[in-house]
Amino acid sequence: MSVKNYIDANQDRFISELIDILKIPSISADAAYKGDIQKMAEATQAALKNAGCNHVEICETPGNPIVYGEKIIDPKLPTILVYGHYDVQPADPIELWDSPAFEPVIKKTDIHPDGAIFARGACDDKGQFFMHVKALEYMTTHDELPCNVKFMIEGEEEIGSPSLNWYVKRNQEKLKNDIILISDTGMISNTQPSITTGLRGLSYVEVEVTGPNRDLHSGLYGGAVANPINILTQMIASLHDAENRITIPGFYDKVLELSTEERAEMAKAPFSLDAYKKALDLTDIHGETGYSTNERTAIRPTLDVNGIWGGYTGEGAKTVIASKAFAKISMRLVPYQNPDEITVLFTQYFESLAPASVRVKVTPHHGGDAYVTPIDSIGYKAANRAYTETFGVPAIPQRSGGSIPIVALFEQELKSKSILMGFGLNSDAIHSPNEHYGIFNYLKGIESIPLFYKYYVEMKG
Ligand code: BES
Ligand code: MN
Ligand code: MN
Repeated sequence: MSVKNYIDANQDRFISELIDILKIPSISADAAYKGDIQKMAEATQAALKNAGCNHVEICETPGNPIVYGEKIIDPKLPTILVYGHYDVQPADPIELWDSPAFEPVIKKTDIHPDGAIFARGACDDKGQFFMHVKALEYMTTHDELPCNVKFMIEGEEEIGSPSLNWYVKRNQEKLKNDIILISDTGMISNTQPSITTGLRGLSYVEVEVTGPNRDLHSGLYGGAVANPINILTQMIASLHDAENRITIPGFYDKVLELSTEERAEMAKAPFSLDAYKKALDLTDIHGETGYSTNERTAIRPTLDVNGIWGGYTGEGAKTVIASKAFAKISMRLVPYQNPDEITVLFTQYFESLAPASVRVKVTPHHGGDAYVTPIDSIGYKAANRAYTETFGVPAIPQRSGGSIPIVALFEQELKSKSILMGFGLNSDAIHSPNEHYGIFNYLKGIESIPLFYKYYVEMKG
């Protein structure tokens, strides 16, 4: 039976099995969900076993467990390693969801006329890693698996994969592979597939500004002592100049400038600024002078405040000067920028911005290297052939603004390249309220993956 016919015959079950795992709130950022992380790891293990893996295990790490599965048919054949993550982002702010985040519902949207599943993790990454499980099920039950396959599904991606380095270093032999296949990114649209050829790196820090040793009456002391919130916001404002360039000395030193030719090539990807603004209810866009919207997210580094707090934020008014103010700041990096170096540059500069009237503390969180992949590799070509066959048009290479730091780690430790075959859309609201994943995208993924295996093994010879 062809994969298409198999999907037609089994799609209701494929959807209901995905819905079952979407009900598990496997939130890695919040220790209160430890039990659900365990439950999700067990569900992943069971799904891999049912799909035909001949060995499956839940591997303990210093953090959340990693689910490993494999089907080795012949050690002489190539091995594909599938990576994904079963953890999800917190659902907050929950009041902005139209239906509860862990009670999946199917609804039609303009972009998804066949319906989309609404739930936290639907697209990032449960819906996407599960496509690989179902594709494996098809291949093993139809004698269509052309090579060996290994799965590594982790439970800490959304908190920066703190245990993955530990795990990969200890399991080099077990994880040995010819290519890594990941569906945890997006594509341009449901009629224009794309293959992600770049990911940005990341440096994430938290800053704390302390003024007086206690909260003060803003009348009795206001004007005479530093207000940490005033100071923090001034310091943050001075991290960008009038051209929206980052002012940290040395920040751009290692940034690779792209050639005019390459930029012209990238600009050919279909993009409507009007549609972009409309989708976000924006009257205008914003960013670094001299770069297009796509360039601003794909090839340029950025600095963004992700959260800021301090003082009184409850109902009504309270006249107070807070003792402390805080912010969480992320910097998205591009190839050759080193996250540790950038964290040091940030810290030095941020401390230098502080007046003598306050104290500043910078705490680094996680970081990771950027990644770029060539488009003339067998892996890229196999992915492109798969998309061309299932979508009827070739895929366009596209760099993404998001980060999957472990991709660079895999290249360093396992010496293998990753192919990023993502099927999500930017409008799928990952990390946001009302995250969803198109049924079309889910089923197209299941259809495309076996073709990648086929063409990859064919070309690898
Ligand atoms: N799957 C995303 C990354 C992504 C999404 C890349 C869409 C490209 C397109 C991943 O789960 C994620 O959210 N990564 C984090 C970084 C991580 C270290 C917390 C990110 O990009 O913020
Ligand atoms: Mn993800
Ligand atoms: Mn994510």
